[in-house]
Amino acid sequence: MERAFKKRKLNGLELKNVFIKAATYEGMYDDGLPNKDLLNHHVDLAKGNVALTTISYGAVSPEGRTFSGQIYIHDRTIREFGLIADKVHEAGGKISIQLTHCGYFSKNKEFKRPLAPSRRFNAYGFFSGIPFSKAMTASDMQRVSEDFAIAAAKLQSAGFDAVELHMGHGYLLSQFLSPRTNKRKDAYGGPVAGRARYPLEVLKNIREKVGGDFPVLVKINMSDGLRNGFNIEDCRYMAVELEKAACSALILSGGFTSITPFYLLRGDVPLMGMIRNGTSLPEKITMALFGPLIIKKYRFEPNFFLAQAKEIRKVTKMPLVYLGGVDSREGIREILDEGFDFIALGRPLIHDPYFLKKLETNEIEKTGCNRCNECIVEMDRGGIRCTIND
Ligand SMILES: Cc1cc2nc3c(=O)[nH]c(=O)nc-3n(C[C@H](O)[C@H](O)[C@H](O)COP(=O)(O)O)c2cc1C
Repeated sequence: MERAFKKRKLNGLELKNVFIKAATYEGMYDDGLPNKDLLNHHVDLAKGNVALTTISYGAVSPEGRTFSGQIYIHDRTIREFGLIADKVHEAGGKISIQLTHCGYFSKNKEFKRPLAPSRRFNAYGFFSGIPFSKAMTASDMQRVSEDFAIAAAKLQSAGFDAVELHMGHGYLLSQFLSPRTNKRKDAYGGPVAGRARYPLEVLKNIREKVGGDFPVLVKINMSDGLRNGFNIEDCRYMAVELEKAACSALILSGGFTSITPFYLLRGDVPLMGMIRNGTSLPEKITMALFGPLIIKKYRFEPNFFLAQAKEIRKVTKMPLVYLGGVDSREGIREILDEGFDFIALGRPLIHDPYFLKKLETNEIEKTGCNRCNECIVEMDRGGIRCTIND
């Protein structure tokens, strides 16, 4: 276990141990700007011995937000993010941010035709009057790629230690990777090499702007959890290509938020809270009537992605970040024994930002998180928190 708390390098960046705080949407903002809660949340994580904390869902442009009012990366938010980075550094931690674009997974009424690899029905935005996406043109793709690269460079200048490019969970770059949502007939669709082309171009564009030494992590699915979706074979291909494209570390996950949201979480479906959070009466009613039928539940098991992640370990020497169901000292040992370089945690650190410190000092063996998943309800009610702690 001691090996987990030894210093590690990520590109040139020195991290105090193997532990990364996985991006978990905080919902902590006022008028589109990061607020004090967001700062305190990440400072607490740094004090709790997280080596690299990650601010979640940094939309790279206004149209990259899933709903209007959400934070996106621009000069005013960069100033606030920079202050958070300073405070995290003072607390002895390092900080990254997830760079993302929602693609068609949008309720953002400012953009009636959200962007996607192909035109498709948008069930998520249907009740917000955004029923269809638009297939991206070459100039859309160029513009969005620039948005990603400019955002990364701004964050680097603001003092961030790393960025994380989100290619998973059914957001824009994941929509390109997935054969379920990418129906393009040009060089950016078809077999995995075509579907991978745009996400790889975005990574290359970021690399050109931030230079070779700056850590750029990528989060990717091993499976969408969907029939005819992105699968482990596709992920093997991507792991090899990402290594060639100078990805600093690959975070392995799965699931498609708009269709299989609990594939990446496992555990309980907090349906009542999700109904309460519906933004309109028709949406609430639809969720109450059909939620139990359309939202698939997956049983939680410790280290639930380990079997798939081991398949990716076989094809690349690039640093790999294990994520999904890490819940105990025993679980951490198992992951390190399998040759993973870093370990990311989400819910155990929402439940207790000092979980790792307590583990290191032998105060506890296991998380108190019971995967009720009420935290996902709370993120839309003023900010994530663990309701078990009430
Ligand atoms: C409340 C909540 C919000 C999340 N938001 C994000 C997000 O913004 N971006 C992301 O990539 N993953 C998000 N996730 C998924 C986590 O990064 C992680 O994949 C998942 O929680 C499984 O890890 P765990 O078992 O350690 O919690 C979220 C998870 C939770 C519980």
